[in-house]
Amino acid sequence: MKYIRTNSLKRLFSLKRRSLEEVASPPSVCCNVEEGNEGLKNVEAIELSPRPTWKCFSFEEISDATNGFSSENLVGKGGYAEVYRGVLKGNEEIAVKRITKTVTDERKEKEFLNEIGTIGHVCHPNVLSLVGCCIDNGLYLIFHFSSRGSVASLLHDESLPPMDWKTRYKIAIGTGRGLHYLHKGCQRRIIHRDIKSTNILLTVDFEPQISDFGLAKWLPSQWTHHSIAPIEGTFGHLAPEYYMHGIVDEKTDVFAFGVILLELISGKKPVDGSHQSLHGWAKPILNQGEIDQLVDPRLRGVYDVTQLKRLAFAGSLCIRASPTWRPTMSEVLEVMELEGEIDEERWKMPDEEEEHDEFWGFEDLEYEFDSSFSVSPHDSISTRSR
Ligand SMILES: Nc1ncnc2c1ncn2[C@@H]1O[C@H](COP(=O)(O)OP(=O)(O)O)[C@@H](O)[C@H]1O
Ligand SMILES: [Mg+2]
Repeated sequence: MKYIRTNSLKRLFSLKRRSLEEVASPPSVCCNVEEGNEGLKNVEAIELSPRPTWKCFSFEEISDATNGFSSENLVGKGGYAEVYRGVLKGNEEIAVKRITKTVTDERKEKEFLNEIGTIGHVCHPNVLSLVGCCIDNGLYLIFHFSSRGSVASLLHDESLPPMDWKTRYKIAIGTGRGLHYLHKGCQRRIIHRDIKSTNILLTVDFEPQISDFGLAKWLPSQWTHHSIAPIEGTFGHLAPEYYMHGIVDEKTDVFAFGVILLELISGKKPVDGSHQSLHGWAKPILNQGEIDQLVDPRLRGVYDVTQLKRLAFAGSLCIRASPTWRPTMSEVLEVMELEGEIDEERWKMPDEEEEHDEFWGFEDLEYEFDSSFSVSPHDSISTRSR
């Protein structure tokens, strides 16, 4: 247990170890939320639901479950973790996230505590639930296994059949609800800071679940926004005020959610081969109202036009340069879900703001971002390549 030095880590694990039988029921049971247009109302119901519980596993348990962390069980790799599929003795499928490649042990602890402290205390059908952790022989987080992988893998893998519109719409609404819950529904507000399609996992029935809380922050209720250094996240998803000034609030996540909407509509990756961002490409098209041009050709014209218009309009609001003119997640859900005509007037910006929005051509900002962070030109450029 050589990593366990910080007081918070000690305190955390001085809690009574729970038995396997006490492990939280799956999210569908512990957060009994109805389907339909009830997203906002249901947040209150969720608050009253039982708190999630999780257990400490022994290293032996997780090693047995993953076949000794065999490479055959490796299902994903991010910037600071390797994720293995495992099966517990009672046949429950789990994902074991082994925290690996950060520079120092201290940094490892920080990411681990961050994730356990946030995801370990939330409960919503659209947020991945924590099953437990292990602090012997390294640091491990244990989750329910998402057999369908991430939204990114399903959407962008050309060897798979194209994702149909119904699924895309379901992912948009579910992710929106999960994010709204993090921002407003759970007891302490959480800013995720790394919302992107590789961090949205899918259940068997394609319900999206927000995962990877390594960068998440508690946002104290008395603060409207937070100044954060160093700036972390993924290029192509970072809101301008964040990567220019380090200012973080829930609008940072709203921006990144907008990028996911554009990704679902267009089937394009957040950053293409020539490093153009998806939002930079889509913005002028959205401003011209030429939504058809955004739509993924792999859908072959099969989509619900009203839903498409709503998602595209929500996306255009989310990627606005000024956080003040970006909607909150509850407003995004309204735009995406409410029946009837969209009230576009309500979202009109004053002329000078429109100009400002145009002026902050995203490509300029990205150039600045690129040079100041000297990041490597990977497929998805990231300050932590997660
Ligand atoms: N619960 C899970 N079920 C299935 N696959 C998972 C699960 N958690 C993570 N993965 C896979 O592992 C990848 C990396 O996990 P993530 O938590 O995002 O790690 P990092 O913090 O290093 O980015 C994900 O993109 C996904 O493909
Ligand atoms: Mg990740």
